[in-house]
Amino acid sequence: MSGEPSFTLDDQPVPFQDGQTIMEAARVAGVYIPHLCFNPDFAPHGSCRVCLVKVNGRPQAACTTPAVAGQVVQSEIEELQEIRRGILEMMFVEGNHICPACEKSGACQLQAVAYYVGMLAPRFTYFYPQRTLDASHPDAVIDFNRCILCELCVRASRDIDGKNVFAVQNRGLKAHLVINTPSGKLGATTFSITDKAAQVCPTGAILIKNRGYETPIGRRLYDRQPVNVVGDVAQVPESEGGRRHE
Ligand code: FES
Repeated sequence: MSGEPSFTLDDQPVPFQDGQTIMEAARVAGVYIPHLCFNPDFAPHGSCRVCLVKVNGRPQAACTTPAVAGQVVQSEIEELQEIRRGILEMMFVEGNHICPACEKSGACQLQAVAYYVGMLAPRFTYFYPQRTLDASHPDAVIDFNRCILCELCVRASRDIDGKNVFAVQNRGLKAHLVINTPSGKLGATTFSITDKAAQVCPTGAILIKNRGYETPIGRRLYDRQPVNVVGDVAQVPESEGGRRHE
């Protein structure tokens, strides 16, 4: 091996470059760490905590923790998978994620990560929040029931599309996604399905109209291979089953 600095991730050496996080270095090395709010096209957000790893024995978010030479990082251990299951269970009960009735099923990163860590049903009581669905845009639907507040659409619209279509209002339990118009309707914005923001949602919160079931359930992205093999839904080209199969 060259003189590159490295850390160990589950006992395997992972080289890194100065300034990289543990997540970025692991990605380059082809090692999967479960995540939802992380996307390599954006600065780390550190909000979902699904990427929790142990760094020298202490829990840290892999997407925001800088790689340091000699670190001992653990990820694929039962203790962490159990914490990840708990985080995912809270996401599932906090919204209305009815997978069998969702058009994104099989191409949903939330569902795929839940399967990966072995979460099949939440142990907690469902909140069943009353949330709306916005079908005012000619080409897209927003189902607020499925938003996990990863802010990927917020970041994509603001930082890449230059439109600032989305925002998160309030904090804590009252936090929710809003559309930046006086009416609060997507149809009143310049949002387009060619925007980056239309491609980054890891759940079925942003759906493209007139494409439902183009790919039958059972033949979708994560029906074919698990998320640790396929990667993020937003990173997979259309030709390989990503993006369009909302
Ligand atoms: Fe690291 Fe969400 S992926 S906190």
